[in-house]
Amino acid sequence: MFRLPHGSLIKIVIVLLFVNILLLVKVYPPYKSVTNGSSRHPTNTDGEKTKATVPLNCPYHSDVGPQMTMSTTNLEHFISESNKTKLTFANIDISYGRWDNQHKYKIKDFAVVGEQYTESSKISLICLATQSSVERLYSLPQVAANWIGPMSVALFSAGNEEYIVLKYFVTYMRLCFPNVKANATFHILFPQEYESLPGHLTEPLNIQKKFNCRNPEKTLKFLLKLRTAKTLEWRKRNVYPQNHMRNLARKGCQSKYVFLTDIDIIPSVNSVVQLNNFFKTVDCEKNCAYVIPTFEIDVRASFPQSKESLLALTKKGLARPFHEKVFIYNQYATNFSKWLTLKGNETSVSISHIVTNFEFLYEPFYIALDTVPIHDERFTGYGFTRNSQVYEMYVAGYKFYVLSPVFTCHWGLQRKQARPAWREQQNNANRKKFDSFKSEIFARYKNDPHIKVK
Ligand SMILES: *[C@@H]1O[C@H](CO)[C@@H](O)[C@H](O)[C@H]1NC(C)=O
Ligand SMILES: *[C@@H]1O[C@H](CO)[C@@H](O)[C@H](O)[C@H]1NC(C)=O
Ligand SMILES: *[C@@H]1O[C@H](CO)[C@@H](O)[C@H](O)[C@H]1NC(C)=O
Ligand SMILES: *[C@@H]1O[C@H](CO)[C@@H](O)[C@H](O)[C@H]1NC(C)=O
Repeated sequence: MFRLPHGSLIKIVIVLLFVNILLLVKVYPPYKSVTNGSSRHPTNTDGEKTKATVPLNCPYHSDVGPQMTMSTTNLEHFISESNKTKLTFANIDISYGRWDNQHKYKIKDFAVVGEQYTESSKISLICLATQSSVERLYSLPQVAANWIGPMSVALFSAGNEEYIVLKYFVTYMRLCFPNVKANATFHILFPQEYESLPGHLTEPLNIQKKFNCRNPEKTLKFLLKLRTAKTLEWRKRNVYPQNHMRNLARKGCQSKYVFLTDIDIIPSVNSVVQLNNFFKTVDCEKNCAYVIPTFEIDVRASFPQSKESLLALTKKGLARPFHEKVFIYNQYATNFSKWLTLKGNETSVSISHIVTNFEFLYEPFYIALDTVPIHDERFTGYGFTRNSQVYEMYVAGYKFYVLSPVFTCHWGLQRKQARPAWREQQNNANRKKFDSFKSEIFARYKNDPHIKVK
């Protein structure tokens, strides 16, 4: 047998190691802005299946909360204190609720109300409406770090196990993040068969030292382990009712304007103050929607603190228009190149331009009066949920104005990957429904805009 002398084997190993390190450096170039990290954000948005390029153990953005670890005693104390003041889930009787129009879901409006929500909704002209399944809720602290104003949050609870996870996690967020406690109001939506779903978790949980305010994602991950396979199976078999959730969040807003987002869409810093100044002066309310451009950000970058730093990130290839690579119709009509010509040194929010090339499947995040068409609840799961609503706005004659320098970000550069079969099925089911939806809205508004349907 061929034998290497001992010395050359070591040399080969050293050379291989060196090559390996070189390759690693190539894959993850050390950007300066990388260090203070960001959170891992899987997608929760509509459109095509995507996967963020996320390195493992990506730390949570360090700005979101005070450095503290909560002990079980603290949490129990908090829950019992909240019990007295009717602040947490503890006082919610989930044996009854408001039905949705199809009698498929029960709804608890205003399950937990932010301590300053009423007051805040009077101060702020704009309320952020957002929705989440239990897995994605860890994004809320970061949303709340940047959106210092009223937030109406719709939560989906598939059974009692998820309800308990939500209960603990919402309590955790309220304890760790002052703006969640003050300004976030939660609504819960349950499936009709809730009672028959698994879930007899014994409380209190053994949660000693598991609650870390620095890391909402890790905290949530721990709690999610409490769900049994039965709950996960149910979730797999049943669609997530995206449009029910959006309507629920929207209708819980008390302010004049609603900014509907998905939970993983992070508004730019200080946008509430800037947007309030802008909305004090707008003259078009009815049939006008104000688009806030959305970018996807490399997880190694830090959150851009201004449009100027966002521009710097785009130049380095660390940021780009949301879904540009995986589903370009999603935001294309926003016309980012036009938006990017305003350099971002503007001192106040203004209209950058109007959307002139509306196209089918366009689904911007926008601010508008909540008299915009509802999100049609026949669409459930993936595909045609948000963009069908925007399409109806277009048929109804809405104009879309793009605002600057405010923006929103989604963590993770998206790349195309094969869609799982269930997702394709949901999309196809909704595509079929879309045909009748389209005929209905053409008839309702007596308008066929003759847009090419893809
Ligand atoms: C909160 O209140 C409910 C109902 O009043 C009670 O059953 C529960 O034990 C209380 N929880 C705590 C932690 O005090
Ligand atoms: C809640 O929102 C209002 C603005 O509507 C803001 O003035 C207040 O500081 C926020 N509360 C917290 C604790 O951030
Ligand atoms: C974007 O704006 C540029 C410059 O005004 C224009 O030429 C282009 O057609 C626009 N593109 C879209 C998709 O609206
Ligand atoms: C922003 O920058 C542009 C070009 O650098 C300049 O012409 C413009 O006056 C600046 N605007 C403000 C508000 O500073």
